[in-house]
Amino acid sequence: PSVAHNPGSHAFQPEVPWELPREKLIFKKKIGEGSFGEVWRAKVDGILGRRGKEIVAVKLLKDYYTPEEKRCLMKELRVMQTLQPHPNIISLLGCCSVTEPLCIVMEYAANGNLQDVLRKQRYTFLQNDLSNLEKRPKINLTARDLTIFTLHVSSGMQYISSRDLLHRDLAARNVLLDKDLVCKISDFGSARDIVEMREYETSANQKLPLRWMAPESLLSCIYSSHSDVWSFGVFLWEVVTLGSSPYPGMTSEQVMDFVQKGCRMAKPTHCSQSLYTLMTDCWHHFPPSRPSFATIHDRLTTLLEEEG
Ligand code: ADE
Repeated sequence: PSVAHNPGSHAFQPEVPWELPREKLIFKKKIGEGSFGEVWRAKVDGILGRRGKEIVAVKLLKDYYTPEEKRCLMKELRVMQTLQPHPNIISLLGCCSVTEPLCIVMEYAANGNLQDVLRKQRYTFLQNDLSNLEKRPKINLTARDLTIFTLHVSSGMQYISSRDLLHRDLAARNVLLDKDLVCKISDFGSARDIVEMREYETSANQKLPLRWMAPESLLSCIYSSHSDVWSFGVFLWEVVTLGSSPYPGMTSEQVMDFVQKGCRMAKPTHCSQSLYTLMTDCWHHFPPSRPSFATIHDRLTTLLEEEG
């Protein structure tokens, strides 16, 4: 007996075949470099069965890497494979994971990471100064744009937390901006399933993003959506200060001490009182007292309406 071919039904669709032939990738330019990974801009023809050449971003390990680093990149791929497409999360387009080196092929965000975008905005006021020509931002952002960015990121995080996933490294450097100025959460190398968290923490000798971490994570390695909310509060601070480094002038030890004794960063100069209140609510010492990403999204929407 033959099985009826039923192209209209999604019920029996195999998993998306992410694997793609390595020869299809034409590497153009290195656009990012982390402690062990690199990101390249590349071209690929006919990815995901789509027609024509597309620009993509490819993440891969550097020439020398440890088994731990490979495991981390593989984990990032696995997490991305479980995510449904979401407008505020960088989407996976494919991978080369059967043979070495492991490559993750993802959507290309033409405006790069938000930390760099924010920092370039600082030179806006120097636009008439020709000596700063190369530092001129290609995009000019308004205060409203910045609030919209925070709304994008809160939407993406709302989806991540709804899937019982923890990002664990939410920061402006890990948010990308596409050509249409839509923020996309990226870098799922530290992301974990809530269930798997219990077993995982032992091998944690990686560099930690201390300045974005909640007191319970610093002190007891406890992570939850509430600790992602804490990081979101620090992200808000980064946005409103145009990409400053949190806790300026303090050493890592001073930051840990400062946060654990209940001190918080002061209200930045150009920050409204309502945004600062939201930030400090994200930094509530007692994790369950922090707002959820849904509440954060609502409050940012109100804030945007107030700004007019
Ligand atoms: N840097 C890191 N990932 C990137 C991406 N997907 N697009 C553009 N720049 C990136």
